[in-house]
Amino acid sequence: FSLKPYNTFGVEAKAHYFTEVSTIDELKEALIFSKTNSLQLLFLGGGSNILLTKDFDGLAIQLNLKGISEEHISENEVLVTAKAGENWHEFVMYCLQKNYGGLENLSLIPGNVGTSPMQNIGAYGTEIKDVFVSCEALDLENLELRTFSLEQCRFGYRDSIFKQEGKGRYVILGVTFKLTQKEHRIKTEYGAIQSELENLGIKNPTIQDVSKAVIHIRQSKLPDPKKIGNAGSFFKNPTIPLAQFEALKQQFENIQGYPNGNMVKVPAGWLIEQCGWKGKQIGNAASHQLQSLVIINATGKATGKEIFDFSTEIINSVKEKFGIELEREVNII
Ligand code: EPU
Repeated sequence: FSLKPYNTFGVEAKAHYFTEVSTIDELKEALIFSKTNSLQLLFLGGGSNILLTKDFDGLAIQLNLKGISEEHISENEVLVTAKAGENWHEFVMYCLQKNYGGLENLSLIPGNVGTSPMQNIGAYGTEIKDVFVSCEALDLENLELRTFSLEQCRFGYRDSIFKQEGKGRYVILGVTFKLTQKEHRIKTEYGAIQSELENLGIKNPTIQDVSKAVIHIRQSKLPDPKKIGNAGSFFKNPTIPLAQFEALKQQFENIQGYPNGNMVKVPAGWLIEQCGWKGKQIGNAASHQLQSLVIINATGKATGKEIFDFSTEIINSVKEKFGIELEREVNII
């Protein structure tokens, strides 16, 4: 079964078994089948954060649970729950149509709601942890349902319990967010949003305006996965000790950094660009010409292995020039 339509890189890889599930019962049935036949499992959401480097010998499960429900808890607050298979951006648009605020800075992020807590998706000054209440998950060890609170998820930058000790153990089935209905918290601190709103001539932005600005920015520099295969940022922005940053600053005076305590987050895109990778292509893989942190399937014919090897070359050259080891953000299968 070809997984090409199920990963936004658009690389070819086959799964021995494949099924789509729309209910918890169907999911449990698939899990029992995998257990009876001792099959490895691969869960697919929007396929926007994986790189398939070879065929998969087990059972791939596409999570298609759909539905959105709401509970108004006060004049200003509403709890909105979306099932895992809802498309993220469509969910954000649904909330904005109802004038529910909190997710507007996260417009146009590829993927589904169910994978959003995995890496605490974030962009333009917001992370889902800012509005997250809880998520429901199925524990693969005992097939019991479990609810994770904000605290239990242990969110960090592109990180959560689901990438650490909970890795491979839980399937997220739905996520609940607390959004505003009246007094919205407009977040425009991120420089790019401010200048985009100025360009649009907007002085007192609504949540819908913020969304519009974010969509413009993303469309202007991030490739549309429907047209050019990619999985967004391929690497995390590395965090290095302040002393290391200061030493680098002596050598590279233009290096940028965002201090956080005695650590500094450095933009990986800048490091990669400085090593000459921006827009560079090897075979079918390339670094995007407008955002070097994004690796693309430039010809549509790249293999996962080719993209992986390309990313290794980037890691090696950044390491050589700056002494910083980039970490892949995309899940390598
Ligand atoms: N930069 C360069 N060259 C490049 C790319 C970036 O010099 O080729 C510099 C920019 O000039 C800027 C800085 O790096 O000063 C940061 O760039 P940008 O604002 O584009 O953000 P980013 O750090 O590269 C992160 C997220 C994105 C998110 C944006 C906006 C990570 C790994 N990526 O990118 O998330 O949309 O911030 O908030 O944290 C994703 O995860 O897939 C993703 C797209």
